[in-house]
Amino acid sequence: MQPILPGATIGIFGGGQLGRMIAMAARSFGYGIRVLDPDPSAAARPLADDSIVADFADVAAAAALARSSDVVTLEIEKVALASLRAAALYAPTRPGANVLDVVQDRGRQKAWLVSQGFPVGHYRLASSAESIGEAVSTLGDSFAKSCTGGYDGRGQFRLDSPAEARKAWTWLGEQPCIVEKALDLEAEISVLIARRPGGDLVVYPPAFNHHEDRVLAWSVIPAPISATLTAQAHEIGRGIAGQLGVEGLLAVELFLTRDGTLLVNELAPRPHNSFHATERACITSQFEQAVRAVCDMPLGAVDVVRPTAIANLLGDLWKEDGAPNFARALRDSAIRLHLYGKRDARPGRKMGHLSATGATSAEAVERVHAAKAALTP
Ligand SMILES: Nc1ncnc2c1ncn2[C@@H]1O[C@H](COP(=O)(O)OP(=O)(O)O)[C@@H](O)[C@H]1O
Ligand SMILES: [Mg+2]
Repeated sequence: MQPILPGATIGIFGGGQLGRMIAMAARSFGYGIRVLDPDPSAAARPLADDSIVADFADVAAAAALARSSDVVTLEIEKVALASLRAAALYAPTRPGANVLDVVQDRGRQKAWLVSQGFPVGHYRLASSAESIGEAVSTLGDSFAKSCTGGYDGRGQFRLDSPAEARKAWTWLGEQPCIVEKALDLEAEISVLIARRPGGDLVVYPPAFNHHEDRVLAWSVIPAPISATLTAQAHEIGRGIAGQLGVEGLLAVELFLTRDGTLLVNELAPRPHNSFHATERACITSQFEQAVRAVCDMPLGAVDVVRPTAIANLLGDLWKEDGAPNFARALRDSAIRLHLYGKRDARPGRKMGHLSATGATSAEAVERVHAAKAALTP
């Protein structure tokens, strides 16, 4: 296999912040960028040489993206398999449709994880209010999650009694879902694997993740966890990436239960919010690594340079009378601001993040919190 060298063009399905940050890293390496996204004002557009406004199910547009690219990758899972297959006729498409087929649907993803012997929490598939009710009567306190389309806690409904099954079914839009037992969590961590088409791979140090209202609020690398847990998380991540044969990145979200067990929550074959800190924590950022992996270039080192924490900035922070007080947050010189260039600050929308380095993970977290607090009066 020939590496795809700088000067070539990378096509990206999806022009959100992840696509934008892949594009920034790719530009540093001298690659050209094409983006396909339904949103004409997508965050990655200013970084692209050229972009296509089209639905992710538009097969002809997908083929056009690949025809004008030397390799195609993605930043979002909801690209239609037919689009990925159409792209693959014209350029290597990494990750491929085989990976998306497993990952795209929560039900198929869970079943695949179980079939391959990876640990997951108790769950049931459901495709009616009745089957949700039956699942909740066996599992108890649960999360019903639609099989497709959910992100940042959307497409989920928490229920603790079968009596709420009809409400959950309606809330989810009457579509197939999984019902997961609500777990008593000690912590959430994630691992990130970068894998080249030939099988070479690297595993990043785990990130420690804190969610609020089911959305990632802050995260730190390295996760302050034991060497044993790190080794277990790495083994699970490496195993999944290898079995899936993923080309590019694979993020694995893990639950640590109160009894010390690691369970796989979900997979994402792309850069992940919980690894944004790698831009400062590690020798090679996840975005640069995505570029290297999909271009089949040698992978970069993932050693920690300095502990780094990030805090997400959601649209809620933007008030009618203006943007948050960024200058005040930057008074601590260890803070960096990362904004995605989105104009429309809707509540819950990820607009950017702050990062902070520290001598320890705890110090980095403390600093990023202080900076975030300084954003608002
Ligand atoms: N079974 C569960 N038990 C406990 N907490 C959960 C469970 N499922 C989801 N959560 C919480 O909700 C968050 C978002 O759920 P997740 O399945 O990762 O969906 P999304 O695709 O929106 O990230 C998780 O990171 C966790 O904090
Ligand atoms: Mg998640």
